[in-house]
Amino acid sequence: MSGLLLLLAASFLLLWKPTAAAALSTNSRWIVDESGRRVKLACVNWVSHLEDMLAEGLSKQPLDAISQSIVSMGFNCVRFTWPLYLATDDNLATLTVRQSFLSLGLNESIAAIQLKNPALVDLPLLQAYKAVVRNLGDNNIMVILDNHISKPGWCCSNSDGNGFFGDKYFDPDLWVNGLTKMAGLFNDTANVVGMSLRNELRGPKQNVNDWYKYMQRGAEAVHAANPNVLVILSGLSFDNDLSFLSNKQVQLSFSAKLVFELHWYAFSNGNAWASGSPNQVCGSISSSVMRKAGFLLKQGWPLFISEFGIDQRGTNTNDNRYLGCILGLAAELDVDWALWTLQGSYYLRQGVLGMEEFYGVLSYDWCKQRNSSFLKRISTLQSPFQGPGLSDTQPYKVLFHPATGLCVAKKSLLEPLHLGSCDEPEALDYTEQHSLVSQGTLICLKAAGEGEKVKFGVFCSDSASQWELISDSKMHLSTKLTANSSASLCLDVDSDGRTIVTNTCRCLSNDRTCDPENQWFRIIDSSRPVASKNSIMEWLFRNLWWNVL
Ligand SMILES: *[C@@H]1O[C@H](CO)[C@@H](O)[C@H](O)[C@H]1NC(C)=O
Ligand SMILES: *[C@@H]1O[C@H](CO)[C@@H](O)[C@H](O)[C@H]1NC(C)=O
Ligand SMILES: *[C@@H]1O[C@H](CO)[C@@H](O)[C@H](O)[C@H]1NC(C)=O
Ligand SMILES: *[C@@H]1O[C@H](CO)[C@@H](O)[C@H](O)[C@H]1NC(C)=O
Repeated sequence: MSGLLLLLAASFLLLWKPTAAAALSTNSRWIVDESGRRVKLACVNWVSHLEDMLAEGLSKQPLDAISQSIVSMGFNCVRFTWPLYLATDDNLATLTVRQSFLSLGLNESIAAIQLKNPALVDLPLLQAYKAVVRNLGDNNIMVILDNHISKPGWCCSNSDGNGFFGDKYFDPDLWVNGLTKMAGLFNDTANVVGMSLRNELRGPKQNVNDWYKYMQRGAEAVHAANPNVLVILSGLSFDNDLSFLSNKQVQLSFSAKLVFELHWYAFSNGNAWASGSPNQVCGSISSSVMRKAGFLLKQGWPLFISEFGIDQRGTNTNDNRYLGCILGLAAELDVDWALWTLQGSYYLRQGVLGMEEFYGVLSYDWCKQRNSSFLKRISTLQSPFQGPGLSDTQPYKVLFHPATGLCVAKKSLLEPLHLGSCDEPEALDYTEQHSLVSQGTLICLKAAGEGEKVKFGVFCSDSASQWELISDSKMHLSTKLTANSSASLCLDVDSDGRTIVTNTCRCLSNDRTCDPENQWFRIIDSSRPVASKNSIMEWLFRNLWWNVL
C-alpha cells in the first residue's frame, strides 16, 4: 500500500511541471495570482528592440543557457522589449534573423548565432521573438512585452521622433494596431503576464490630455485582444512623472488589470547624487518620487519600477549613492520591479559593434555574473515582504540595511546582534515610545555606548532604548545614552561588516563628501514567516537572562 502511494507520489512529481504563471490580476496595490496570493514581479529587462530586432546575446550563449542564468540569478520575470514596426511592418516581421544581421553587416554575429543557436538563425524575426518568449516559459519565467520604441534602434531622446503620440515615428493608429497584434499573438501563452504599452513617453509633444486619450485606447485594445495580461502604463517625461493621476483616474471598461510603471535612475536627476549631500539628496528625491508616482500605491494601484540600475563596476559615485536610497525605498514600499538590465553586451548599439553594457548583470561574454555582490544586495527584494496570501504570520518590523541588502538578524544565544538574511530577521515592534521591541517579548534594542555592540534590555523606557529616525533621509536610527546627553549615537555596522553597534551619527550636516550609507537603515513591514522554534535556552535568554548575557 505505502509502496503504491510512493509510486503514485513519484509519478505525480515526474508529471507535475509548474506552469509558468496563470493569469495575474490586481487586488488594490498588489499583483495577485488566480488564488489571490501575491506575485511579486522581480524582473530583468532584456533588449530586443535595436536595429537587428533580435534578443541580445544569442551570439554568445544558447538561448536556454541564458534563460537558466536568469533563473539562477533569482529573477522570476523578464521585461522583453520590442519595436512597434516589428509587429506592424510585414517586411520586417518576415525578415529572417540572418537577413536582418547581414543587412547590417553583422557577419560575425550571424556566424556566432549559427553556432550557439542554430535553430533560430533562419527564423523570421517575429518567430525568433516568440521562440525566446517560449523558452522563458519553459524555464518558468514570466514575460512582460514592452513596446519600447517604434523604429528599431536605441532609445530614448526627446528628439528621436518616437517620444509621443503624433511624433514622426509614432502614429497612434499604427501603435494600437501593433499592440493588438502582439496581444493576440500571445493570447495562448501563459507566461506572458503583462504588456507595457509604451516605454518612456517624452518630448515636446507630450501632454496630459493625449496621454489619457491614447493610453486608454491602447489599454482597451490590448485587453480586447488578450484579456489575460496586465496592462501597464508609463508616465510622462521618460516615465518619471505620473503625478497627473493624483486628481484624474484612467477610465477603462475592465478592472483588476491596470498597473503603472515608473523609471528611476541616478541620472534622472542629472549629477545630483554626486554633487550633493547624500542624506539631503536621498530625502528630497525620495519625496519627489512619492509625489510623482509613489502616491499611486496609497490610491490602490500597483506600481512597477520597470527600470532602475547602476554601473556595476562600482565606479560611478552618482549611481552608488542613489542605489542605497532606492533600495531602501523599494524595500519599504515592497514594489514590483525590473532591473536595467540583463545584456552584458550588444550586437550593435548606436553604431558601435559589440558595445559592452556596464549596467548588465551578465558579463561581456554572457557566461558569468558581472558583479555577484551587486546581485546579492538586490536579492532580498526578489521575494515579497508583504501582500495577500503570503503567510499567516503576524506583520512585524525588520531593520533593513540597504548597503548590504541584509537585515538585522534574529539574535541568538551565542552571537551578538548582527546582519543576516531578511528571511530570518529579528521580528520587531516599533512602539509609540520609539522602542524596538522583540516581537512577543518584553526585551528591546538598547545602545551601550560609542563603538559598543547593541544589546537587548528589559527596561525599554530609558533614553538608550528610544530610537528616532533622523536626518534628511530619515534613514538614521538615533538614540541617546542618557536623557541629558547632547551627543546622539546612530545604529551602525561594525568594521567586521556584520555586528550591529552604535557610533556617532555621520554626515548629518550638509557635507557632499561624507558617505552615510553604512548607517542607513529602513524600518520595514514584513510578514515573511519567521522561525518560531526557540530552544529552551533561547527562550530563557530572550525572556529572563537578557541582562546577564
Ligand atoms: C557578409 O556576408 C555577406 C553574405 O555572406 C557577404 O556578401 C559580405 O561580403 C560579407 N561582408 C563582409 C564585410 O565580410
Ligand atoms: C487569439 O488571437 C488570435 C489572433 O491572433 C485569434 O484568432 C484567437 O481567436 C484568439 N484566441 C483567444 C482565446 O482569444
Ligand atoms: C562590484 O560592485 C562593488 C560595489 O559597488 C565594487 O566595489 C566591486 O569592485 C564590483 N566588482 C566588480 C567585479 O566589478
Ligand atoms: C538632567 O537635566 C535635568 C534638568 O534639565 C536635571 O534636573 C537632571 O538632574 C539631569 N540628570 C542627570 C542624570 O544629569
